[in-house]
Amino acid sequence: MQQFKLSNGIKIPPIGFGTALANGRQAVEAVKNAISLGYRLIDTAASYKNEESVGIAIKECGVPREELLITSKLWNDDHGYDSTLKAFEQSLKWLGLDYLDIYLIHWPNPLKFRAEGYERHNAESWKAMEELYAAGKIKAIGVSNFMPHHLEALLKTASVQPMINQIRMHPGHSQKETVDYCRKKGILIEAYSPLGGTGGNLLSMPLIQDLAKKYQVSVSQLCVRWGVQMGIVPLPKSANLDRIKENINVFDFEISLEDMDSLTNMSDEAKGLPHPDEARF
Ligand code: A2P
Repeated sequence: MQQFKLSNGIKIPPIGFGTALANGRQAVEAVKNAISLGYRLIDTAASYKNEESVGIAIKECGVPREELLITSKLWNDDHGYDSTLKAFEQSLKWLGLDYLDIYLIHWPNPLKFRAEGYERHNAESWKAMEELYAAGKIKAIGVSNFMPHHLEALLKTASVQPMINQIRMHPGHSQKETVDYCRKKGILIEAYSPLGGTGGNLLSMPLIQDLAKKYQVSVSQLCVRWGVQMGIVPLPKSANLDRIKENINVFDFEISLEDMDSLTNMSDEAKGLPHPDEARF
């Protein structure tokens, strides 16, 4: 399997495992299953309230810590220099780890600070993250849900450029402007909700159903494969062993260029999450 290399040389596998919405023992089992099936990049966040479960899975899985890439994210209420340092320590504590592989600013423009403008708060959080990175407490730093204007603002004061931007991305929701911008800057894109998200209806869309039949794969494999061929890192999530397995087995077929275009340009089924500058959180 092809690996991506971040600007600092850290290698990232082509598919990761999402954990939003899973918690308690269900999250422990899901992450352990994912690791046993070959996932090495595990994605959590302070706001998912499952860092403790992810930490237990890491301890129980039997795979050496250094072979895993663990991501967490700074929640919106904790933007700012001191709060970021504190929130990071808290995430480490929940996870039971002494370093994180990847730490991301979860959203660019929290409601809590919106009236003051997001620029200063992001710059302060970023400074804290740069220091944690320099101290070896985080192996790679990045952002999530950032659009080009948020990145432009951050780059005005950043000494270290974000290495990753994790955004919502799936067939019909290709975020071309952000992806093109990040590609130009050498920022790796990770995709959350690569299957259209929990409660979405992407997987039942006729085009997805038809193409899955054509390639003799499942609808989810088609969506994950689309992400792989877009040159990004999909982070499918599932609590079900067979689906976890299915979602990483996408390397024995190839979607034609024509079908890739149809998937990219299909109707946008993204629902639920608002524009980063308008979110009520
Ligand atoms: P479940 O946990 O019951 O498998 P996304 O990764 O886009 O956020 O989508 C996650 C949703 O898709 C979850 O509700 C998950 O439910 C479901 N899902 C995950 N893998 C598959 C699959 N292989 N086939 C169908 N649905 C899936």
